[in-house]
Amino acid sequence: MKRFAVVNYKGGTGKTTTVVNLAHALTLKGFKVLIIDTDPQGSAGYYFGLSPQKTLYNVLIEKESISDCVVNVRHFLDIICSNERLFPAELKMGSMKERELVLKSQLATLSGYDYVFLDCAPSMNLLNQNALLFADEVILPVSMEYLSLIGVKQLLKNIKIINRIFNRKVSITNVIPTFFDRRNKKSKDIIESLKRVFLNMVSTPVRTCTSLSEAPSKHKTIFEFDPDSFAAEDYYKITEELLYGR
Ligand SMILES: Nc1ncnc2c1ncn2[C@@H]1O[C@H](COP(=O)(O)OP(=O)(O)OP(=O)(O)O)[C@@H](O)[C@H]1O
Ligand SMILES: [Mg+2]
Repeated sequence: MKRFAVVNYKGGTGKTTTVVNLAHALTLKGFKVLIIDTDPQGSAGYYFGLSPQKTLYNVLIEKESISDCVVNVRHFLDIICSNERLFPAELKMGSMKERELVLKSQLATLSGYDYVFLDCAPSMNLLNQNALLFADEVILPVSMEYLSLIGVKQLLKNIKIINRIFNRKVSITNVIPTFFDRRNKKSKDIIESLKRVFLNMVSTPVRTCTSLSEAPSKHKTIFEFDPDSFAAEDYYKITEELLYGR
């Protein structure tokens, strides 16, 4: 079971879009996938049109079993949703023993999935630290804006600190350029900067694509809403890179 945290402290860089579409693409290839939304905004559940009774709050605070809190959304695809209740959850976790490891310990017996994707909030909070300590690898979607690079530096620094304090080896293994426009010099400059730091960890970019912004309102992934779009092509390629390398 491979665990990916999809993180960027900057908002709106395509984290949730990446989680939903990579997860669905992997199920179409026959893998079993679980999405865990750790963001109190609850966007991942919204993508699938859910407003569930049980959320990650029940797992983290009420210590309920995972099987009681997952919702099946597609063949081979389950999700543990989140909503605004997760905000007080974070406050409660603050006073727990080993507060950074609550998610890891609650999910210690998790099995039956090939891939787990954690959709993270755009902030440096305790839930994100929990996500980084549960994950083996980090996927970093970076939008083609100069300010995105600041968030990337902060994340690298925090991962280093977490690895040192908790004796872990979590690392960024996939950097996904998002909102890419090949006609735009800024897009090319930012990809060059990313490649200087992350070398071959930089994936195929996801082009800016209207269908991708319309799909959530229809509660569909890009492979259902517009399978012939650029974005479907890009996310399919990125999935192949995850599976077979680049
Ligand atoms: N390549 C793209 N082209 C066009 N629209 C996109 C693209 N990727 C994402 N979007 C849209 O941009 C918005 C932000 O994307 P998304 O919600 O995935 O970002 P996020 O990083 O999860 O945001 P947050 O930090 O708030 O959690 C959404 O409306 C989404 O549909
Ligand atoms: Mg999001």
